[in-house]
Amino acid sequence: MAVELNNPEKRMLGVMQSNENEDWTVQKLCNLTKFEDQAIIVGAGIGLVEKGLAIGFENKKTFWTLGNEGIKANSEGLLEIKLWEWLQSSSDTSMKSLQTSSVVEKHEIGIGIGLLKSLGVTLESSNLIIPEDKVLIDEKLKDRRLFLEKVGFSEKGILEEELDNDLLNHFRNRKSLLISLEEVSRTWKITNEGMKISSEDLEEKIMIAEITPELLQGSSWQNAEFKPYDVSLESSTPLTGKPHPMQSLIERIRSIFLEMGFTEIDGDYVQTAGWNMDALFIPQDHPAREMQDTFYLSNPESIQIDENRLEQWKKIHEHGGDTGSIGWGGEFSNDIAQRGLLRTHTTVNTVKYISENPNKPCRVFGIGRVFRNESIDRTHLPEFHQIEGIIMEPGANLPMLVTTLKTFYEKMGYPEVRVRPAYFPYTEPSLEVEVKWRGQWLELGGAGIFRPEVTEPLGCSSPVLAWGMGLERLAMLVLGLDDIRQLYISDLEWLKSQPVL
Ligand code: PHE
Repeated sequence: MAVELNNPEKRMLGVMQSNENEDWTVQKLCNLTKFEDQAIIVGAGIGLVEKGLAIGFENKKTFWTLGNEGIKANSEGLLEIKLWEWLQSSSDTSMKSLQTSSVVEKHEIGIGIGLLKSLGVTLESSNLIIPEDKVLIDEKLKDRRLFLEKVGFSEKGILEEELDNDLLNHFRNRKSLLISLEEVSRTWKITNEGMKISSEDLEEKIMIAEITPELLQGSSWQNAEFKPYDVSLESSTPLTGKPHPMQSLIERIRSIFLEMGFTEIDGDYVQTAGWNMDALFIPQDHPAREMQDTFYLSNPESIQIDENRLEQWKKIHEHGGDTGSIGWGGEFSNDIAQRGLLRTHTTVNTVKYISENPNKPCRVFGIGRVFRNESIDRTHLPEFHQIEGIIMEPGANLPMLVTTLKTFYEKMGYPEVRVRPAYFPYTEPSLEVEVKWRGQWLELGGAGIFRPEVTEPLGCSSPVLAWGMGLERLAMLVLGLDDIRQLYISDLEWLKSQPVL
């Protein structure tokens, strides 16, 4: 047999072969095939049409039933009929008299008058006037009443063709009087090709759609056929829970650094200016310390720092301590150093780590949130994440730093990386790291080797390679965004469509 038919298609075609000329309805096919579910017939019909064995017809029918207002009109009388009756029986037909009567509800008066006017009633100095040919109005209103009664009489509605066109058009434009229902009925006719299929080919086979343990334990499956899977069929996308893309990205970065032999560290959001800045040899009058960049806290406004530590920083800042540097000069303020703030970079974590482990060679990294008083725009957020890291070991050098960063970005999928000279108060040399994306160099972070003014007071004698990079900037590349805010607005449609990273 040239065409493959499934069981319902075979049975339906078998029935249809009994009459070449019949236009088969779903109902009749259900009865004769003994399929109770109409959907099976519709599905089989689609299959037969696709294979050229049947022709399908679709007949759309519109039925009309009464809406809320229509039901009300049938029990209480149509608005314009009530008004018309009142008009004929009242001696005073002024608007005022209508308003004080209870013939219709107040809010219906406006619409009611409009309806009467369209029938020929006029309004002269606030009096409603019945026109000469009132018989015509009587007739029109009678037609409207009969129309609604007819529609209301049938529960499942009246076929559109059986209704008066003008009256239907009149009522369908009025609110809630009528409701329409669409019904699609399908029929099929067998084709010559369909007639040619032999009765052998229409023999149904046992088809196994689901493989169960019970089935495999028996032997019935040995002679049965298995229903094939059609992997090309369209299917719905399962909407399951999944991590936020930022969380997935953090996990990916984490595993890359772990794989490269790094250990993860963490730290608090609340820090002192001392650890966030002074320990990093950022001068106390540095513009970045100003209120417009840093969120200083009112609680805790100040956090105590060990005297000895403050003394160390004082020496370094004022005249360079024993490092050979001349420092920044001026007078170091302990009050400034002890001010509470939200960390402005995660470099504070690595510096604190060095202070606790000054002579233990290490490779550590951390991914954390930082805070800066920035106005929000396409590329800036006041709260964002940094990917921070250090390598501390004897003999650590600049090429090692550049290679480490290149390796990281390569593992992220960005093999083209370059570094440019930059300036940070705490590193020398200092670098800016750039990654090529869609033909453009994008700046993703800073790096360098910590200055002796940073490491020596901490008691650390090996070189420390350090870097801090923006996570959201990287996320924009990975997710192809041109607006950083998209990451945090909880746009469900966007989140649903994000790939699992
Ligand atoms: N802390 C710097 C920043 O926030 C980045 C940096 C870290 C630079 C470590 C050099 C060394 O941009």
